Amino acid sequence: MRTSGDLTRFNTLGLNATANHLVTVSTLVELDKALHEAVVSEPIEVLGGGSNVVLQPVIEGTLLHVAIKGRELRADDGRVAVVCVGAGETWHDFVVWCHHRGLNGLANLALIPGSVGAAPIQNIGAYGVEVAQWIRAVHVTNRYSGERLQLSRDACEFGYRDSIFKHEAGAHWIVTAVEFALDRQAVVQASYPSLRARLSDAPLSHDAVLAAVMAIRRERLPDPVVTPNVGSFFKNPLMSQDDADVLARHQPGLPIFPASEGLVKVSAGWLIDRLDWRGVERNGVKVSDDHALVLIGCGATSATPWLALADDIAKSVESAFGVALELEPRVMGCTAESAKS
Ligand code: EPU
Repeated sequence: MRTSGDLTRFNTLGLNATANHLVTVSTLVELDKALHEAVVSEPIEVLGGGSNVVLQPVIEGTLLHVAIKGRELRADDGRVAVVCVGAGETWHDFVVWCHHRGLNGLANLALIPGSVGAAPIQNIGAYGVEVAQWIRAVHVTNRYSGERLQLSRDACEFGYRDSIFKHEAGAHWIVTAVEFALDRQAVVQASYPSLRARLSDAPLSHDAVLAAVMAIRRERLPDPVVTPNVGSFFKNPLMSQDDADVLARHQPGLPIFPASEGLVKVSAGWLIDRLDWRGVERNGVKVSDDHALVLIGCGATSATPWLALADDIAKSVESAFGVALELEPRVMGCTAESAKS
């Protein structure tokens, strides 16, 4: 379906933005048609659940809203099941669907807002688990040539909140489906500090982890259906263990978490919190009272105040601790002034 589109209800910040051509695609055939009809000289952007984007007022060219549904069991050896899921499925619904079938691995990722198709792009992660470890392949379509491919997990080059899809080498791919290999005998992952504390003496099980993760998230992270937010507004900065040790010597208590490739993550929320940002409100955007890494909307309808507050926070962290913060959500589009007439 092709429309000239108001995107207010397509992004969880509720920002006012317009796409020149908004096309919702529910099948691969519709996707091919939309790509064929897109103007060659104009950009083609993709939107999933809109839960991790900051939209500028104008999205030029064609914006594809990928709503491809479907969950299909592709293989099952009695222990590991391979499930292929449409990019437009809701992430949390899929997690619960797997859990009820005893297909384990994803419980720690419950209640993350957004679509299945967005999960590999930013390699969603929470409470000690990243989605990459359960992904077998990602089905993609080239937005310019229409070519289709299945990328193996290795080919996706997953990292902390990162994948090939966020870089030039993979930016042309549109995710249409994701294949997961889920293990009925997966080990329960309960070592993340706040999760372990919540589980206390309860017997470890995937059921208990699912319930605990949902409870922690509901307490600490605002529901985007009720309160405009995109979860964490910054990534946790990656650094060498040595650099983190030096920082922690000056900042006792700084939480440090393992990451890949010999690096560690330090807690951006903790650093921001030390500078007393919690509760600060400016121009309709506020630092959450419950979590310093989360910004919430209280009236702002454009990207400008969100990015201005984020910029002030990042500058203060840089100046106090010498640590550069990177935005976690993607900023899409441009201002009305810079849009091509
Ligand atoms: N902390 C503070 N003050 C705060 C917030 C946090 O001191 O205001 C401290 C906490 O006490 C804790 C540490 O910072 O010791 C880490 O906090 P938390 O467990 O909430 O995790 P996080 O590193 O802030 C990351 C993810 C979240 C994910 C949680 C749980 C990123 C950017 N964020 O946050 O993901 O839910 O871990 O695993 O990696 C998201 O990506 O949108 C998101 C919400």
